[in-house]
Amino acid sequence: MRAAVCVEFGPPEKLVIEERDRLPPGPGQISVSVRAAGLNFVDSLLIQGLYQIKPTPPFVPGSDVAGIVDAVGEGVTDFAIGDEVMAMSGLNGFAEQVVVSQSRTYPIPRGLGFARAAGFLQSYPTALFALDNRGRMQAGETLLVLAAAGGVGSAAIDIGRALGGSVIAAASTDAKLEACRARGVAGVINYESEDLKVRAKELSGGGVDLVFDPVGGDYTEQALRAIAPNGRFLVIGFAAGEIPRLRLNLVLLKQCQVVGVDWGGWAAKNQDANRAVFDKLGGLLESGKLDPPQPQTYPFENVREALRDLMERKVVHKAVLLFG
Ligand SMILES: NC(=O)c1ccc[n+]([C@@H]2O[C@H](COP(=O)([O-])OP(=O)(O)OC[C@H]3O[C@@H](n4cnc5c(N)ncnc54)[C@H](OP(=O)(O)O)[C@@H]3O)[C@@H](O)[C@H]2O)c1
Repeated sequence: MRAAVCVEFGPPEKLVIEERDRLPPGPGQISVSVRAAGLNFVDSLLIQGLYQIKPTPPFVPGSDVAGIVDAVGEGVTDFAIGDEVMAMSGLNGFAEQVVVSQSRTYPIPRGLGFARAAGFLQSYPTALFALDNRGRMQAGETLLVLAAAGGVGSAAIDIGRALGGSVIAAASTDAKLEACRARGVAGVINYESEDLKVRAKELSGGGVDLVFDPVGGDYTEQALRAIAPNGRFLVIGFAAGEIPRLRLNLVLLKQCQVVGVDWGGWAAKNQDANRAVFDKLGGLLESGKLDPPQPQTYPFENVREALRDLMERKVVHKAVLLFG
C-alpha cells in the first residue's frame, strides 16, 4: 500500500510517496481501506515541525479518513468487514490503508459519501463543541465566523444555522464569500477590503453575540470590538500565524467572555462526552439540519499540491484526497 511520508520536517514538497507493508489490526482495532482523507491546517504545521505535537520523522501525516473496513482485530464488536466508516487516526491517514481504534471510528452517516465524511471529521465536532458546549449558543443569536470558507469556519456556519442562529461570514476574497452566501448566511464581510468591526456591527444591528475565530492576527481585535454585551468570543486557532494579545479593557467594557476551545484535548480526556457530540452531529445530519459542503478534491498522488493550496489559502471549505 502507498503512503505519503514526511521523511524530514519541511514544506509539502518534501513529502515522499512510498510503498509500505499493510499493518494488521491489533485487539480493539480495525483496518480501513481508505477511500478519502481530509486535510486540516494542523497537517501543514505537523509536516513543518511547527505543531505543539512533534512526531519524529519518518511519519505519515493525516488524521481524518473515510473508507471500508477490510479486517478487524480481536474483540471488535461494533464493526465488520465491508462497513463504510469514518475514523480519526491521529496520524497515518494519508495512506491507502490505516489501522484505527474502534473507539475512534464511526459509521458514515447516510448519504454523506466518503469525500464529505473525510471532510466532516475534526471540523464539525470542533464547531459543535465550540458553539454548543463552550459558547452555549442559543437560537436567535448572531454569530460572526472568521475564515468562514475554511474547514472549521465552514462547519461553524452550518452548525450555527442548525442551532437556530443568524450567521455573518467573514473571509479574504469575494469568491470565498460567494461560497459562504450559497450556504445561507445572513451577511458577508470581506475582511481584506472592508472594516470588520464596522460591518459586523452594521450587519448585526449593534453587535454580535458570538465570534468564532480560527484565524488570530489583526482580525481578532477588530472582531472583539464588534461583540455585544454578554457576548462570547471563541478562541479556535491562529491560522494567520500570529497569536494576538487581547486588550482586557475591551473585555471589561463589553462585559463579554473570552472562551478557549481545544476540542482535540478535551475529546481525548472525555471520550463519553465526545461520543455525545458525535451523536448530536448524527442527529442533526439525520434531521437534515446539516449539509456538509462538497470538498475540493485531489488525487492522492497530488497530496503535496493539496497541502500547498491549503497553506496558500486557495482551498474553499475543505481539501480531501481521493484514493483508488
Ligand atoms: N481549537 C480547536 O479545537 C481546533 C480544532 C481544529 C482546528 N483548529 C485550528 O483552526 C484553524 C483553522 O483550521 P482549518 O483546518 O479550518 O484550516 P483551513 O481550512 O486551512 O482554514 C484556515 C483559514 O484561515 C484563513 N487564513 C488567514 N491567514 C492565513 C494564513 N496565513 N495561512 C492559512 N490560512 C489563513 C484562510 O481564510 P481566508 O483566506 O478567508 O482568511 C483559511 O481558509 C487552525 O489554526 C487550526 O489549528 C482548532
